[in-house]
Amino acid sequence: EKGGYDHFMLKEIYEQPRAIQDSYRGRLLADQGLIKMAGVDDNLEKFMNANRIIIVACGTSWHAGLVAEYIFEDLARIPVEVEYASEFRYRNPVITDKDVVIAISQSGETADTLAAIKLAKEKGAFVFGVCNVVGSTISRETDAGAYTHAGPEIGVASTKAFTTQITVLTLIALKLAKEKGVFSQSKYHEFLTELENIPSKVEKALLSNDLIEKVAAVYKDATNCLYLGRGYNFPVALEGALKLKEISYIHAEGYPAAEMKHGPIALIDEQMPVFVIATKRGHYEKVVSNIQEIKSRKGKIIAIVTEGDETVKELADHVIEVPETFESLTPLLTTIPLQLLSYHIALMRGCNVDQPRNLAKSVTVE
Ligand code: M6R
Repeated sequence: EKGGYDHFMLKEIYEQPRAIQDSYRGRLLADQGLIKMAGVDDNLEKFMNANRIIIVACGTSWHAGLVAEYIFEDLARIPVEVEYASEFRYRNPVITDKDVVIAISQSGETADTLAAIKLAKEKGAFVFGVCNVVGSTISRETDAGAYTHAGPEIGVASTKAFTTQITVLTLIALKLAKEKGVFSQSKYHEFLTELENIPSKVEKALLSNDLIEKVAAVYKDATNCLYLGRGYNFPVALEGALKLKEISYIHAEGYPAAEMKHGPIALIDEQMPVFVIATKRGHYEKVVSNIQEIKSRKGKIIAIVTEGDETVKELADHVIEVPETFESLTPLLTTIPLQLLSYHIALMRGCNVDQPRNLAKSVTVE
């Protein structure tokens, strides 16, 4: 049932090219220059008239929500707030019938996310679900939605659910960008075509597995790690850190790279591995100067870079390449090596990769 893989997590990491494709199949019609999503098409007015979009989720799904915030604001120019469902539900939040709430949940059973949805509905908001499990409670409780179609995710550490959530949310943002006239037909077409290239680029990113295993062997005994990224890749840094914590039990923190000098920089010494997402475009030069700051404090730098990068290679202890793509689509690629790194490190530490201690696949109690 693990399809020849040692663990579900590894199988699910490798399923991503296919899962991403499944998440846009029948929706992304690049040749016709069209995105068809029934849940959005049927409620287009709600989305177009929304004052803002509020995204509610937990854990990895919350990280996908953060990526979506960058995408919706950057591409579709719609204001977005991303909320931990657990905080939102108890905060007496301001919600009106002009708000669109998007709830993201792999399982569709997360108690806090469900409660946040109920609250938003009571206040008159239109609630849209992005779930993986078909027929789940959240998919039934929402007014409309789009499934991620990632297939069953068994490993407790979420992998393909994350990349397919981002894909589905990107489709929605692109659709709204086009609808709002923020995007020209040609720009729209370029994006649709590039999105179709993503599965093969993920495939290529997966080819670094052997290199990543070697890097994992170097850092497997670390007690603390930092993950840094900027812009679209800041949420990827958070996700990389969460993945490492939950399956390897190594303490890890994700930060926006520029925040480092507001505190975490004090932690850096020769014992500290720092994973930096430093892909081309997207504040590249600024990330490079952050890398220099780490280097001058003797931190160990493992950088995720764009194929062919020479600058960071000079500075970093290890570089792992991902193919080039549009800045807004980079999270779909930069996430891959970080998933593999956590997997290998956890395995080398003898941890139960698929069922980490203290954790359940779906958190149905608050
Ligand atoms: O099923 P959900 O997407 O609602 O689950 C949310 C979180 O519990 C989940 O993403 C959790 O953080 C994962 N174990 C992370 O890998």
